[in-house]
Amino acid sequence: MNYELKNKTIIITGANSGIGKAASIQLAGMGANVVMFCRSKERGEQALQDVLSAVRGGSVELILVDMASQKSVRNAVKEFLSSHTRLDVLIHNAANFDHRQKKPVMTEDGLENVFATNHVNIFLMTQLLLETLKKSAPSRIITVASKGLVTYPFLDIEFDNFKGEKKFSMQHAYYHAKQAQVMYTFDLAERLKGTGVTVNCVRVGNVAVPDTRLDHLPAWLLKIYHAKRKFALTPEKMAETYVWLAADPALENVSGGYWDAPNTPVKANKNAYNRETQQRLWDVSAKLAGL
Ligand SMILES: NC(=O)c1ccc[n+]([C@@H]2O[C@H](COP(=O)([O-])OP(=O)(O)OC[C@H]3O[C@@H](n4cnc5c(N)ncnc54)[C@H](OP(=O)(O)O)[C@@H]3O)[C@@H](O)[C@H]2O)c1
Repeated sequence: MNYELKNKTIIITGANSGIGKAASIQLAGMGANVVMFCRSKERGEQALQDVLSAVRGGSVELILVDMASQKSVRNAVKEFLSSHTRLDVLIHNAANFDHRQKKPVMTEDGLENVFATNHVNIFLMTQLLLETLKKSAPSRIITVASKGLVTYPFLDIEFDNFKGEKKFSMQHAYYHAKQAQVMYTFDLAERLKGTGVTVNCVRVGNVAVPDTRLDHLPAWLLKIYHAKRKFALTPEKMAETYVWLAADPALENVSGGYWDAPNTPVKANKNAYNRETQQRLWDVSAKLAGL
């Protein structure tokens, strides 16, 4: 799989590790100008060097963003727009799945951290970049959900539990935010009809996470991760589906899809297709994003 991506500008969040870094290397290797949006200066700069040396030069940049903070998202977008007039692909890869968190933690914006990082601030970033995406059309947005959602066939948006006030576990908060991303993708695809901007959601399955990113886990959870790794895809293999969605010319008009690796359409749970809930989620997300 090799696409010609010269003169294409691609933002990818959470680009300093795992699938995000692997996708950055693949996309930059095909000639794209990759803008790596990363939380940590140190990890971001290291990843930038790694990507540059993997593709021997190439056009790769780093912009710092903490997806948990709306101010940081606004600043990162401002920094990007100060030196770019076009955006061809926006990949929302970053997500918080920090298993140490046992109780809801509020962000500086007064939102529950997991819902803010993994849904609301993704909504915000898209909205802030939408005019540029439209001007650059045909252009693409890629969101990221999780195959683990199949274990939640009845999960729906909990409009009375956005702050984890009724129930909270990291796992539940994570899958709830991913369900919101799936529904947001379907709704956004409808709203973007006729603009030349497409949006598709990747359902990431079991992908190997290196030990360096798991050292905070209790021994029992580490054992589970090690067992899962035997059947896991590599980040590089998973990144190929990101690249396909970002770059394959045959997908120029494909929008509102939900995709497994490798490049396979899948169905979300029944609730995800409820237009009324999708539209209600949009209104609440806009309000929570301060728009
Ligand atoms: N690995 C799997 O089995 C699996 C399964 C289902 C879904 N997924 C999804 O796949 C995507 C990529 O995950 P991965 O496997 O590549 O894991 P990963 O290597 O841990 O990557 C996650 C990335 O998100 C970034 N991030 C987390 N919180 C952030 C914040 N507040 N602001 C900015 N960046 C933040 C991390 O940055 P830091 O280095 O600063 O932490 C890291 O770069 C995620 O959306 C995840 O939910 C993965």
